[in-house]
Amino acid sequence: MARRIKIAPSILSARFDRLGDQVIEAVKAGADMLHIDVMDGHFVPNLTMGPSLVKSIRPLTKVPFDAHLMVTHPQNFVKGFAEAGVDDLTVHVESDHDVRVTLKAIRNAGVKPGLVLNPATPFADAVPFLRDVDLLLVMTVQPGFAGQAFRRDVVPKIREARAYIDMEGLACELQVDGGIKVDTAPVVAEAGADILVSGSGIFPDRVAENLKALREAAEAASERRR
Ligand code: DX5
Ligand code: ZN
Repeated sequence: MARRIKIAPSILSARFDRLGDQVIEAVKAGADMLHIDVMDGHFVPNLTMGPSLVKSIRPLTKVPFDAHLMVTHPQNFVKGFAEAGVDDLTVHVESDHDVRVTLKAIRNAGVKPGLVLNPATPFADAVPFLRDVDLLLVMTVQPGFAGQAFRRDVVPKIREARAYIDMEGLACELQVDGGIKVDTAPVVAEAGADILVSGSGIFPDRVAENLKALREAAEAASERRR
């Protein structure tokens, strides 16, 4: 039996004129969670979505909502996203905040905290916080836009994180985000990722076929690492 890998389609690549239908399509296709990319035009040079959008799609499904905050002041948005109904809230270690305080605020709001590392940020920067998070997200593109090329130079960091999490017996899941498609999914699965985020690899067309192909490619590779 292949190890089960979770797939988190990023709705940033969905068609916004029929976002609700695209959410339902992804859920029917077996999405394990939905990834919600939040950008503030300051931490990254792009603007996307906020709590009101989350609130409006929340009633469509029970699948967990995984919000990735690419914002300068994540501490200011914890309450808003918690009330909108997200299940996980991941914040960048590079943002302008007291990471420990923000992670605690997320936990206190009844949401699972996660920590994100940009491609250039070493794994060591996450280590002091790993016992306080449910999720470690390793970026394989510079955040800001969907559809960028996967950065293979980050793969050793994924392996390093996997080894550390296993060695320490941590409960934290390892998520990878950026440029994940059928050809790169096996690389990150083999390196030890538990959750694969994919935007342009799944949306907007042939959602079910894309998701199935991605899962099969990832699970075959994760089996090889056992
Ligand atoms: C990048 C976002 C990613 C992105 C993924 O800033 O955090 O989640 O939308 O899109 P693809 O899979 O197209 O790289
Ligand atoms: Zn993301």
